[in-house]
Amino acid sequence: MSAPKKLFIKTYGCQMNVYDSERMAEALGEKGYVEAKTADDADMILLNTCHIREKAAEKIYSELGRFKGLKAAKPDLKIGVAGCVAQAEGQEIMRRQPMVDLVVGPQSYHRLPEMETKIRQGEKALDTDFPEEDKFEKLKSRPKAKRGPTAFLTVQEGCDKFCAFCVVPYTRGAEVSRPADRILTEARDLVERGVREITLLGQNVNAYHGAGENGDLTLAQLIWQLDKVDGLERIRFTTSHPNDMMDDLIEAHGTCTKLMPYLHLPVQSGSDKILKRMNRSHTAESYLRVVEKIRAARPDILLSGDFIVGFPEETEADFQATLDLIAEVKYGTAYSFKYSTRPGTPAAERPQVDDAEASERLQRLQALLSRQQREIQESMVGREVGVLLEKPGRLSGQMVGKSDYLHSVHVSDCNREVGDLARVRIMASSTNSLAGELIR
Ligand code: 5AD
Ligand code: SF4
Repeated sequence: MSAPKKLFIKTYGCQMNVYDSERMAEALGEKGYVEAKTADDADMILLNTCHIREKAAEKIYSELGRFKGLKAAKPDLKIGVAGCVAQAEGQEIMRRQPMVDLVVGPQSYHRLPEMETKIRQGEKALDTDFPEEDKFEKLKSRPKAKRGPTAFLTVQEGCDKFCAFCVVPYTRGAEVSRPADRILTEARDLVERGVREITLLGQNVNAYHGAGENGDLTLAQLIWQLDKVDGLERIRFTTSHPNDMMDDLIEAHGTCTKLMPYLHLPVQSGSDKILKRMNRSHTAESYLRVVEKIRAARPDILLSGDFIVGFPEETEADFQATLDLIAEVKYGTAYSFKYSTRPGTPAAERPQVDDAEASERLQRLQALLSRQQREIQESMVGREVGVLLEKPGRLSGQMVGKSDYLHSVHVSDCNREVGDLARVRIMASSTNSLAGELIR
């Protein structure tokens, strides 16, 4: 038998891309591909790209430029572009970089095996359709390969919200939920392979409404089904929209013990004027009310958010309203970005904020968010938390894992196995992690 071919996937962007890269590796695994540790070692390189911010496409073109030498040295090397840049740029990628053999959009990954056959015959392959069939049904994972204790599981994809700054509705397409039975089957399979924690993924995960036996299920109902899966210890989900934070989901945070006390709830801005122009269809006040309800259900929940500064026509007063909202909510962690013009989105047509001004606002915002993150981490010291152990640490006897609140925790003298859920007393807080000791 010939040696297996090697596949190197470089993943950019969100957690859904991480999940998709795993599915692509599995789909190509059927065609005899195994993982290559580096691009130099590969017979096929796939860039799984992100289009959300900045000159994403330009970065991909320059990354592709770096593979020129490799391709010259190894003419059989195949190069592909997947993900949201592939969707947005399509054929243009092959026109600008003729060494690219394959371009595949996020909804067409299940067609990769056929596309691979085509490129091995020396043809080009392009697929950026939004096909009718369920790509996940066709992308069944190879049975029983062992895995680490945490996994992502896509339950919903696409978005119908059309925030004025965002490309997702164009690159990922309309909102679609996967049927509940397929998700449950995949979850059970993951647990059999060693997974203890599943993070349910969707661009608008809390808008989930997948088909169940007796009509559509809400995300909360799906979580309660997953709660019954033996061996699954922890459930998380991301990313949620404030308007879809339904009462049953809020309630589940108080009553479902497998559902972890962490919620990523982007607000983007604290100014109603800007929120309106962003087409967010919520106000600062309605967001704060949702937060209040969640905290009533689960007082210790750790909140995380996304923020955009320098959105078109944002004034200093609008920005101040965002700082005020942050001060009121107190985020445990957050992702903040300078507004980046995305061609084809409505906000791209509006008067832009001066770049230096936007950078300066971003710095002030991040200073406040870092202070809050530090305070919340410090408040963990002395507390007892659950930690799912993910790998050995750098120091002898040490293991590293994530707390219920998603903090990284270094556990000293930890004679336990990867995948164990340990009770840990937090002893210290440093910049991006906590340190603790086993409670024996
Ligand atoms: N500019 C800056 N940030 C953006 N995001 C989405 N689109 C843009 C953009 N054009 C941010 C939002 C979103 C996160 C995933 O990325 O905060 O919640
Ligand atoms: Fe983009 Fe999220 Fe808005 Fe959808 S809800 S358009 S994914 S920012």
